[in-house]
Amino acid sequence: MSDSFAPLLARIQDRAATVGVIGLGYVGLPLARALAKAGFRVLGFDVDAAKVTKLNAGTSYIKQIPDATVAEMRANRFEATDAFDRLSEADAILICVPTPLTDAREPDLSYVTGSARAIADRLRAGQLVILESTTYPSTTRGDVLPILEKSGLKAGTDFFLAFSPEREDPGNPTHTVAHIPKVVGGLDSHSGDLACALYAAIVPQVVRVSSPEVAEACKILENTYRAVNIALVNELKVLYDRMGIDVWEVIDAAKTKPFGFQAFYPGPGLGGHCIPLDPFYLAWVAKRHGMNTRFIELAGEVNTAMPAFVVSKIADVLNDAGKPVRGSKVAILGMAYKKDVDDPRESPGFELMELLLNKGAAVTYNDPHIPVLPRMRHYPNLAMTSSALTPEYLAAQDCVLIATDHTAYDYQLIVTHARVVVDTRNATKKVTEGRGKIVRA
Ligand SMILES: NC(=O)c1ccc[n+]([C@@H]2O[C@H](COP(=O)([O-])OP(=O)(O)OC[C@H]3O[C@@H](n4cnc5c(N)ncnc54)[C@H](O)[C@@H]3O)[C@@H](O)[C@H]2O)c1
Repeated sequence: MSDSFAPLLARIQDRAATVGVIGLGYVGLPLARALAKAGFRVLGFDVDAAKVTKLNAGTSYIKQIPDATVAEMRANRFEATDAFDRLSEADAILICVPTPLTDAREPDLSYVTGSARAIADRLRAGQLVILESTTYPSTTRGDVLPILEKSGLKAGTDFFLAFSPEREDPGNPTHTVAHIPKVVGGLDSHSGDLACALYAAIVPQVVRVSSPEVAEACKILENTYRAVNIALVNELKVLYDRMGIDVWEVIDAAKTKPFGFQAFYPGPGLGGHCIPLDPFYLAWVAKRHGMNTRFIELAGEVNTAMPAFVVSKIADVLNDAGKPVRGSKVAILGMAYKKDVDDPRESPGFELMELLLNKGAAVTYNDPHIPVLPRMRHYPNLAMTSSALTPEYLAAQDCVLIATDHTAYDYQLIVTHARVVVDTRNATKKVTEGRGKIVRA
């Protein structure tokens, strides 16, 4: 029996525990907020000193988290820091750092292993470590555990280790930490008990599974399921387009079936930090087990072909007006990867912009949530600011492309003033006047 377990469980149950959250991004910050609200003292760790300064001053850098929320967190004993020595102050440490792909599209676990090393250097008996970052099954046991045990402390007796995936749905106010059940897999029963006790304080339901591997595989299943189903409707979009059938009308009709069908929608390509990347973590680990995950590869192929399909539609539309792409004015509406968020990560808008620029189009954009394009790793040269969405601006374009269906847009105004609108999101569904100018892509 571990001497560390009972006191830590009591500290968690009494909310006397200090919780450390490493990585204060789209996942870590809402989590820190929920923990602080539940009464825990929360220490947020981030390598980005500018973020730390902002948070401690009560200001936010994520649109969905207003300044008032950060101020409330500060009042609830939340503190941000880049002093990783303070990890020893935390009773529980949650790792919420990025898990991107390398240029060779292989898992880049360097942020996770770097965080594990930072913890291991200060690990003390009686700490609980939980990995939240999305990754392939076996990471917690195979990659994180050995680093932590280099401290000389033993998991399950001295310290505790679990995996619990985040299920953030940015931009959706009904899907916050407080609304979404959380899957938890402990390395051993004590680790599972402690992690479940911690999350029970902030989520409506804790779903305990038998191991970290099951929890890791569950998260990747959820994201792969989306990637594959989106690929299916994207492929059907191209087919139905050739056949003169509106795929959106088809999906709306199909979803009236009360069983056995879940609606997924086509788009200009995948975006965000999860769906375009995570399935490739699974594909990579599958190869280590001598297997190819063909569904994942095929879905990736179909989804990554979508921006080129959209650009071919724009070329057709311009051709119909007797214009080449070169020199034509194209406005992209929406550079965020999904509606109503300010997150540009992996957004197809960037690829659309680059493809159009490479063909010589005069491209500008508007996004009410992204006033200036950030420097993206794969698109370092797309420096641009958002154009004002005025009737004059719309009328001056040869083609207006709706890449993201932000709620803030007045779609009737857009259609009224544009010469032609290429709509990749069915955003103009309710527009009544000028429907002849709308082309789906
Ligand atoms: N964004 C989502 O909707 C979402 C949903 C579910 C799961 N996830 C997963 O959660 C993880 C985090 O994603 P995110 O969207 O919050 O990323 P993010 O980029 O928004 O935030 C990551 C934060 O970690 C910080 N950071 C980077 N390296 C660090 C280090 N070594 N130590 C401390 N801080 C460090 C960055 O400065 C940043 O603030 C990823 O594995 C992602 O796949 C994301």
